[in-house]
Amino acid sequence: MRVFAGPRIGTRLGCHNFRGSRREFLFLGTVREAWPRREHLYNIVFTGPNVGNRTIKSCAGNKSEQPLRGRCYETGSDFALAAELYDARARTDEMFWLLDPAALYERPAPERHRLIFYLGHLEAFDWNQICRGALETTAFHSMFDKLFEFGIDPEPGQSPADRPSDWPRVEEVARYNAEVRRRVDESLARAPAQIVQVALEHRLMHAETFAYLMHELPYERKLRRAAHAVRQDSGPPPEARMVDIAEGEATLGQDPAAFGWDNEFARHRMRVPSFRMARYKVTNGEYLRFVMEGAAAPHFWVRQGEQWFYRGMFGLRPLPLDWPVYVTHEEAAAYAAWRAKSLPSEEQFHRAAYGSPDGGERAYPWGGAAPGPRRGNFNFRRWDPEPVTAHPAGESAFGIAQLAGNGWEWTSTRFGPFPGFEPFPFYPGYSANFFASPHFVLKGGSPRTARRLLRRSFRNWFRPCYPYVYATFRLVENG
Ligand SMILES: [Fe+2]
Repeated sequence: MRVFAGPRIGTRLGCHNFRGSRREFLFLGTVREAWPRREHLYNIVFTGPNVGNRTIKSCAGNKSEQPLRGRCYETGSDFALAAELYDARARTDEMFWLLDPAALYERPAPERHRLIFYLGHLEAFDWNQICRGALETTAFHSMFDKLFEFGIDPEPGQSPADRPSDWPRVEEVARYNAEVRRRVDESLARAPAQIVQVALEHRLMHAETFAYLMHELPYERKLRRAAHAVRQDSGPPPEARMVDIAEGEATLGQDPAAFGWDNEFARHRMRVPSFRMARYKVTNGEYLRFVMEGAAAPHFWVRQGEQWFYRGMFGLRPLPLDWPVYVTHEEAAAYAAWRAKSLPSEEQFHRAAYGSPDGGERAYPWGGAAPGPRRGNFNFRRWDPEPVTAHPAGESAFGIAQLAGNGWEWTSTRFGPFPGFEPFPFYPGYSANFFASPHFVLKGGSPRTARRLLRRSFRNWFRPCYPYVYATFRLVENG
């Protein structure tokens, strides 16, 4: 890794460092360090020979011609990961910038920490895993390392009772974060790729779960609301249709040579008897009939007078009848029973999403192409769902819609270890802590799920009564 300090726009980049080099380099630069100050990120890829003669002419985001500070990575295993980690930091910083700073000491979900915890947690996790854990670096702030180490998932009725004054001031946390980023960046090239991926995916998962918490805040606590106005694209719900899925095999779990979390191993195959699956996720319109029969309204709905509204991230809108309904597992299971149908098991989801009538299996529902904006509502493009008929280019080989994105899908499978499961030695509680009490597996992804987490083997899980998740479902018929 080469380190630059202070190249400016218009200057030739490090000629003396790169003279004669024929390698590729990525320049990662920052003007400022970390939230709450703006961080400008530069990912400049120099390819081909004579990289030392390239001149920085412009960098997205930097209008001020301030000095660029950053690091240059030789392209290789650490190259793409470092770039992804920087992008993920920008993603999580963006969430905090959307908040009224006073909201940081609120606890939008009684079962979770106050938001200030997450400001420290993202950096503390990277620091604890990469520097303290993998590289055995000495601590510089052990108290924060511990305070911000892990989140919570208490049994129902055992929510935390701390007060805002129990938490450190924002400035202290921001100082800790800036120091962590500086030290992590210095260490990144020496860190094992597996640990960097753990840190990266952990941050991306929080980019989504933090959105759940932010969703719960009153609208006046969210800044720049107008920039994220709710789109007005909805219509009548489509006609429900069941699709035949012939008996076949499904491969669950990750390739042992690839990165995955501990619960994604070991890879194994399962025989799945024939069944029928709904082409579309259950819509608000369909669920409304259940509510009119006496079922409780979902957490994301609100009633004003005679009309139902969807409680979007940045505003209310009349209930979009063709959007998927966000519900708890308990609600999804009750609706399925009311319709005399079932929720799919994890292996049924795999068979329908990644299998095909000819017996082959795919990386994604639509095939082998990397997830892009034509394939579905994921990777942070929207804050809220879209109609269940959107993005036909993302359908599976069986013609089933939206098996990736637009809302995680509850399965009937209780979260547990795959055969051959072994916990990560450096993070033993990541999955195993959740096996004993009931949590259910969700598959697919939501509007706020990073593209990287759409891989086939990725498993999400939540308690059956946890209402804040962007979780939908679809129906199956067995036998
Ligand atoms: Fe976490």
